[in-house]
Amino acid sequence: MASRIIVVTSGKGGVGKTTTTANLAVALASMGNRVVAIDGDIGLRNLDVIMGLENRIVYTLIDALEGICRLNQTLIRDKRIENLYMIPTAQSKTKDAVTSEQMKGICEDLRNDFDYILVDSPAGIEAGFRNAAAGADEALVVTTPEVSAVRDGDRIIGLLESMDKSPIRLIVNRIRPQMVKKGDMLSVSDVLDVLAIDLIGMVPDDESVVTSSNKGEPLTLSTDSPASRAFKNIASRIAGNDVPFQDLDGLDSNGKGFLGKIKRAFFGRC
Ligand SMILES: Nc1ncnc2c1ncn2[C@@H]1O[C@H](COP(=O)(O)OP(=O)(O)OP(=O)(O)O)[C@@H](O)[C@H]1O
Ligand SMILES: [Mg+2]
Repeated sequence: MASRIIVVTSGKGGVGKTTTTANLAVALASMGNRVVAIDGDIGLRNLDVIMGLENRIVYTLIDALEGICRLNQTLIRDKRIENLYMIPTAQSKTKDAVTSEQMKGICEDLRNDFDYILVDSPAGIEAGFRNAAAGADEALVVTTPEVSAVRDGDRIIGLLESMDKSPIRLIVNRIRPQMVKKGDMLSVSDVLDVLAIDLIGMVPDDESVVTSSNKGEPLTLSTDSPASRAFKNIASRIAGNDVPFQDLDGLDSNGKGFLGKIKRAFFGRC
């Protein structure tokens, strides 16, 4: 199988990129793939904590780039799942500690050894995002169903297109079906009206995500919570399987209510 390098991005911060990267890495490895998750959010190290691997860090991505160690010495093997690894980043460095060319080199070096290389990126459109995305073939854009997050997502999709990433697919995270039903939250179809890219998954707002992050045990390792099922479905779709979408009741609010007006005001469409 040809190796795939996928960057997990968003316009707005805090929408669930790191959570998504960790859960998809675990789910893809559980399906029998060789997977490495790279923390591309330099200076704000997080992925190691969410994956529960922070106590095992010896060398970071930056050490490899500075020639302090070899790239394979930065790989932390996840003992809970066969064929799952992560590469941590440094907390002390700034986002420009890595260049796009260096990031491309790292990703290419890993291509021979892994089926999936997932890169967790910092939010936004600055150099940190460009570097994290530089080595990727394809992209996953994460957004929550909030107007500001969707608008920033639109910006990031434009940049990813200009960087020739393909496919660029969307994950709508933290959906609250009851709020969508009442017209108090954008539905997934509202989001898709604005961000005209393919949807690859919808993840409900699920408090077990918070507990699992605190414990360093991605949900897809074991539990069968709604968010865990959603992430497993996304992993399966990434692998090319045709998995029906869960009914989160939020697929269609038809732009009704005050959100319909907000959408028109902010995005000038619909
Ligand atoms: N589906 C979900 N249900 C409930 N909480 C969630 C969900 N997804 C993410 N969260 C919570 O949202 C917060 C932000 O998640 P995360 O750190 O993954 O976002 P991020 O996009 O990586 O943030 P940053 O831009 O700062 O890197 C965390 O506290 C996480 O536990
Ligand atoms: Mg993050």
